[in-house]
Parts: sequence; structure tokens; C-alpha cells
Amino acid sequence: MNNVGIIGLGHYLPEHILTNFDLEKMVDTTDEWIITRTGIRERRIADQSQRNSHLAINAAREALKNAKLDPHDVDLIIVATISPDTSFPSVACLVQKALHARRATAFDISAACSGYLYGITTAKQFIQNGLYKNALVVASEKISTYIDWNDRSTCVLFGDGAGACVLSKVPGDRGIIADYLHAEGHFGELMEIISKERKSCDQTVKTMDLPRISMQGKELFKAAVNSMAHAALTVIKKAGMKLSDIDWVIPHQANDRILSAVAKKLDLPKEKVFVNIDKYGNMSSASTAVALYEAVEQGKIKRGDNIVLVTFGAGLVSAANVVKW
Ligand code: UT7
Repeated sequence: MNNVGIIGLGHYLPEHILTNFDLEKMVDTTDEWIITRTGIRERRIADQSQRNSHLAINAAREALKNAKLDPHDVDLIIVATISPDTSFPSVACLVQKALHARRATAFDISAACSGYLYGITTAKQFIQNGLYKNALVVASEKISTYIDWNDRSTCVLFGDGAGACVLSKVPGDRGIIADYLHAEGHFGELMEIISKERKSCDQTVKTMDLPRISMQGKELFKAAVNSMAHAALTVIKKAGMKLSDIDWVIPHQANDRILSAVAKKLDLPKEKVFVNIDKYGNMSSASTAVALYEAVEQGKIKRGDNIVLVTFGAGLVSAANVVKW
């Protein structure tokens, strides 16, 4: 039986670049602090008129074009996002409408920074069991909506963007060889969207702050290193491979120091870990999608290479896949 594999990739990044120097003018921070502690130099921020679906649709169009697939032949659209335009319609339905992919089933999934891999693994099952032939998986985030631009501990970390892939059966031994999905809801409070209730001066009128990201960075850092190392080792074992068989690791980009620590824990040369956090910051689900796109576009990943996609994020949720390219 043929494997399910990736037959086309797409991405979209908003034009506006917000540099560390721009942030120096907004909060009490420095370019030096941000680079040393995170590896981030700049990030993209969508403008007011661009909703999440705008990014998702652009990434989806490029993935279909690269897959040489007509929208009419898409059976399933999954959008991974934690920052949708609204609760409904889903971003997946907005993508379906824009593409005129009238035959497709469409739904969103919420798995934070692991959303792209949750989406890929979910779509893979539908193709493998014969229900659908072609699936479009998009990871799209306008995470800037949830940033408190007065909070230096979070506002320097995130950026907006989208990535996408088309999945279908592929010939030979290529394709998605193994999957790993994991959730630890009992650690959910380490990273949340919060909106505090405030009382007016006379204690009568209650107002709500805008929802925003709150996180316990140090605890998350440790959890991220342990979870990503565990996810990578587990999925490699499931694939019947050894770490030395892996040509590239494409990880979620939350902090370059996390990636160095994961490489060290795995005893893997850091050169095998693809890093682009310097240009985009943490784009939640879109980080891995854009990293995979760029690793392929830059010719780093070659046909026949074994790659590990590995993620970690709020929930807490971790995920990994082994893909023979
Ligand atoms: O997407 C997946 C989920 N997210 C993550 O996995 C994030 C994981 N955590 C991290 O990446 C890191 O913990 C952070 C980058 C968030 C923070 O780095 P850190 O080395 O853990 O710094 P810290 O929070 O311990 O803060 C160290 C100091 C503090 O000052 P004091 O108390 O030592 O005087 C902070 O107030 O740095 C201060 N600080 C800043 N200073 C300048 C915090 N943010 C900033 C800032 N600029 N932007």
C-alpha cells in the first residue's frame, strides 16, 4: 500500500516587519536581550485589514499550485489555528469558499503550536482509510491579536504567518512513515489566553481586559525541551529508524535556546536542526509549516531524506512525524 505524503507546500508572511529595534521603542527591552535569550531578530505582523483567513488563503493557494491540484479535487481542508477570524465560520470554511473547493469537507483544529502536525496526522488517516484522496492542511496564525504590547515578557516572542501542504498518496517508500500525538492538559495553566475582569472606580461596572497571552516562560522552557526530545525519539522508534538515519529535524520555533537544548539532549548535531526563528519569531502552528517550506525551498531537504517534524505548545500538546521526502 502506498504511503500518504506531502505533494505541495505553500506559505504566506505579512509584509510588515517588526524588528527588535522597533520593540525597543515600545517596551523596556533591548535587541541584545531578545537575541541572546531567544534568537529572534524580527517578526512579521499582519495589518489591521488582514484577518487570519487572508494569510491562510494565500498559503493554501501556493500549496495547491505547487501540488498542481485543482481546488475542485480537494476533498478535505483542515486549518490549524488558535487565532481564527471569529468562532464561526471556521477559517477552513473561509478557505474553502475563497478557493471554490466546493467538494471539500472543512474544519478547524485547535492544538496551538502543534496544530500543523495534529492536522497532518488527522488528514493522513482520512486518506489512508480511503474516505478522501486529497487533503489541504493549513496552519495559520494572526497571533498578534492576542499580544499585550505593553508586556515585554511576551510581546517580543511572537509573529504572524501561515504555511500549508497538500497530502495525497505518493509512490514508492516516500511519505509520512510515523506519527506521534500527545496532550498533557494538566499543565494547561503554563500558557493561557486570559482576560481579567476589572471593576470601575465605584465598584459597580465590570469591564474585561482584551484577551491576551499569559505564560510561565521558565517552566514552559523545561517542558518544551523534554517533550520535543521525547516526541522525536518516540516517533523515530515507531518509524523503525535510528537517530543517525535522520537527515533533518524541522522543529517548532519557540526559542533558539530550546532548539540547542533539544539537540544536546538528543546528542544530535545542531546543524541538522532547521532554524528560522530569527526572521519570524514564534508563529505558533505556522512556525513548523513555514520552516518546512523554507527548508525545502532552500534545497536543504532533498528527495529521499528522512526528516522529523516535531512540535510543542500550549495545552500542553506535543507532536512529531517522520517523513521520507
Ligand atoms: O510556543 C511554545 C510555548 N512557549 C515557549 O516554549 C517559551 C519558553 N520560554 C522561553 O522561551 C523563555 O523562558 C523566555 C524567552 C520567555 C524568557 O527567557 P528567560 O531566560 O527564561 O528569562 P526570564 O523570564 O527568567 O527573565 C529574566 C529577566 C527578568 O528580569 P529579572 O527578574 O532577572 O530582573 C525579566 O523581567 O529578563 C527580564 N525580561 C526582559 N528583559 C528585557 C523579560 N522579558 C524581557 C525583555 N527584555 N523582553
